[in-house]
Amino acid sequence: MATPTERTDTGIANSYGEGEAANRMNALGIDIGGSSVKGAPVNTKTGKLLAERHRIATPRHLSPVMMARVVAEIAQHFQWRGLIGMGFPGVIQGPHIMTSANLHPGFIGCDAVKLFGKSTGCRVALINDAAAAALAEMRFGAGRGFKGKTLLLTLGTGVGTALAHGGVVTPCELGHLVWKGKSAEKFVAVSARDREELSWEVWGRRLGKYIRDLEALLWPERIIIGGGVSAKHHKFFPHVETRAKLVPAKLLNRAGIVGAALWAVHSR
Ligand code: BGC
Repeated sequence: MATPTERTDTGIANSYGEGEAANRMNALGIDIGGSSVKGAPVNTKTGKLLAERHRIATPRHLSPVMMARVVAEIAQHFQWRGLIGMGFPGVIQGPHIMTSANLHPGFIGCDAVKLFGKSTGCRVALINDAAAAALAEMRFGAGRGFKGKTLLLTLGTGVGTALAHGGVVTPCELGHLVWKGKSAEKFVAVSARDREELSWEVWGRRLGKYIRDLEALLWPERIIIGGGVSAKHHKFFPHVETRAKLVPAKLLNRAGIVGAALWAVHSR
């Protein structure tokens, strides 16, 4: 594994590669989740991580200022000075976070590009976490080469959603489809399965009902299921009835990191 390089004459340090070309394609991907923050430098041409993921657990909801410290710790861990792409579990509009269903409410309205740019000293690009995972899966994973309409769901603390069509990814907020007066994610996220101690079968059937509601409106040709639980897809896929082909994500817990890095390079 390469070690971080010192500042280069291209002005971008710590490329984890050689020369200017590598500097232009590498970015630090950071995935802010409900219970931890993970990051790794990524070669966005290959989708490969250039070093082992660094994960910091965040057992309680951190305020934006405290989160900025955690993010800076990850950048410091890799001695990173280049581009940073960051996936956040909320609606993103420009540099702003607009919603924060499962994290600290202080993020709502926050200029996260400024906040994290200041704490890391790096240029930061911000994207919804599920849209980041979709970018990575469509480029390097379960959606690779597929141009038809694809729905990606990330199942974790919440339910993240994104649509891809003709290679273009659009973030969605379908986890907040209203079910019994609440966001559907309160019933179908992995956190709901844990809280209600549901069997794989009961949870799988419930997830199937939710996905069929989405299918009635969106008619995806392929559905990619992501999030850590996708590694256990053989336990619940048999109970999830859908019209479209259901496939597990390929990049597993790397998708959010790789997609955030892709977004950073894309938005440069
Ligand atoms: C948020 C989404 C996010 C999803 C998964 C939802 O509660 O509103 O923006 O993608 O959780 O983290």
